[in-house]
Amino acid sequence: MAEFKSKIRTIEWVDNYSKMVDQTKFPEHYEYVKITTGQQMFDAIKTMIVRGAPAIGIAGAHGVTLYAQEIFDKDLSLDDFKKELLEKSDYLVSSRPTAVNLYWAVEQQKEIIRNGHDINEIIEELKMNGKKIELDDIAINKKIGDYGAMVVPKGATILTHCNAGALATGGYGTALGVVRSAFANDPTIQVFADETRPRQQGARITTLELVMDGIPVTLITDGMCSYFMKKGMIDMVVVGADRIAANGDAANKIGTYTVAIAAKYHNIPFYVAAPLSTIDTSIESGDEIIIEERSHEEVTMINGKTICAEGVNVINPGFDVTPHELITGIITEKGILKPDYKVSIANAFKS
Ligand code: MRU
Repeated sequence: MAEFKSKIRTIEWVDNYSKMVDQTKFPEHYEYVKITTGQQMFDAIKTMIVRGAPAIGIAGAHGVTLYAQEIFDKDLSLDDFKKELLEKSDYLVSSRPTAVNLYWAVEQQKEIIRNGHDINEIIEELKMNGKKIELDDIAINKKIGDYGAMVVPKGATILTHCNAGALATGGYGTALGVVRSAFANDPTIQVFADETRPRQQGARITTLELVMDGIPVTLITDGMCSYFMKKGMIDMVVVGADRIAANGDAANKIGTYTVAIAAKYHNIPFYVAAPLSTIDTSIESGDEIIIEERSHEEVTMINGKTICAEGVNVINPGFDVTPHELITGIITEKGILKPDYKVSIANAFKS
């Protein structure tokens, strides 16, 4: 299988800080920012300078290391150092509640803190583990991409929602990892990208990264997907996920559920591409997933301009949950999981 080389690197640990692409500036600017404190990392996750489930997992791991470096300067006892760092770690996780990867990565760092015997060694281990999560993520995404490419028909048009690409991960992407691997072997495939209101990750981020990597992409607004499905112009849907329950219900960016219903109606395969770290086996179904509520301004304004009547009621959930019955397969680094998901997910964690 041919390999696709992507130019995009989203977030990486450098010496004693975290370097990341500022995703709030897209598409006008492609700029890197240095995050040097734990609070800056909390704010970067919350304001979506860094976003996408695996990327905020990496950011969380880096954030714990940044807090550790700061607390080190206070010259505390080992126990007090650990206590304060564990509290700061929990605070970091509260920045965004839906994506389980943030919790998953910070939990790994907390384990290092709990088991540590020396402050300097703890900090070194936190750095190394952050780097490992970063590099593992890219390798996992390549596996997801290669498994997913096997179910992409020749010359397919793939619809995606939001951005589950290199810019949502350490690199390569999950849903867009499938696209990259498929494109490496069949340059006749193409992508339709939903705009993804209100934050427009599809328009601002998915189109940017696909254009940067030379993969053909057509931008459509969210309401257009069933129109193109009916016309026979969409062959499959591949999206990412923020948290997948033990029964296969999958939370992803708001609007994903609508796409899944439309795909089912038109008999179009609907795949979720995600690493096993996105699967939360502690919850039985998607009903238990906490959905982030975001600011009303994201809905009432576009580019700083109000687009609705003053004082109107607004609700802005950031994610929705696609029921497992609508999902054709979950593409992971261990292969493509198929229904019955309770069984296939449990088996994926055993092997
Ligand atoms: O609010 P965002 O931009 O962080 O939401 C991102 C998504 O919903 C992605 O599809 C998901 O995190 C998977 S990223 C591989």
